[in-house]
Amino acid sequence: MSTPHNAANAGDIAKVVLMPGDPLRAKFIAETYLENPVQFNTVRNMFGYTGTYKGVRVSVMGSGMGMPSIGIYSYELFKFYGVEAIIRIGSAGAYTDKLDLFDLVLADGAWSESTFAKAQADVDGDIQYPSEELNAAIRKAAEKLDQQLVEARIHSSDVFYHEENVDGHKEFYEKHGCVCVEMESFALFHNAKVLGKKAACLLTISDSLVTSAVTTAEQRQTSFHAMMEVALETAIS
Ligand code: ADE
Repeated sequence: MSTPHNAANAGDIAKVVLMPGDPLRAKFIAETYLENPVQFNTVRNMFGYTGTYKGVRVSVMGSGMGMPSIGIYSYELFKFYGVEAIIRIGSAGAYTDKLDLFDLVLADGAWSESTFAKAQADVDGDIQYPSEELNAAIRKAAEKLDQQLVEARIHSSDVFYHEENVDGHKEFYEKHGCVCVEMESFALFHNAKVLGKKAACLLTISDSLVTSAVTTAEQRQTSFHAMMEVALETAIS
């Protein structure tokens, strides 16, 4: 069994999957944290691995950037591979100076201008929600690891580069209550909902649209460990 985008066979993928956007980060997590990782996908270099973490089976797979990409991979994982929960782990740009670089944000909702939910299932509305149960497990794992989380609404944007006449970050913060921006969770949460599965999103602040501060690639590599460890601890809980 396989899909157009995933070469895994039935049973190759664990019930809980961690999804970073970058497939090389999936490789890094598998090689750094998982015992006996086995690669189940290389199609389009969207690497996926299954191994064990503290003795419990866990998978990690890249989602790519943007909602069409995570929409495809998460749908196939939920629908065809028996995956029950996906925890997205990613980076985000801050919309408020109340967030510092490297802060961890747990999404309690994803607002979006995206038509993904409408196009996919004729669902109206501009906010999609994560699983409360999964968020509670993430909160508990973070407490156990003594890791602070900011729980807030996030913006799932369709656009990374805006022209200068479009500068919406103030409005997204003030009008829609979004504290930071990423590009995937609205579609992930929607897919989980229509398929009766669970999804959550944990983000590390990598840049600020308010102060223009940015993290270096090296800083991102090391700072993301906190997020990865919280997600892994949740996956085995
Ligand atoms: N992910 C990290 N930083 C981002 C930004 N500024 N916009 C969208 N997605 C992001």
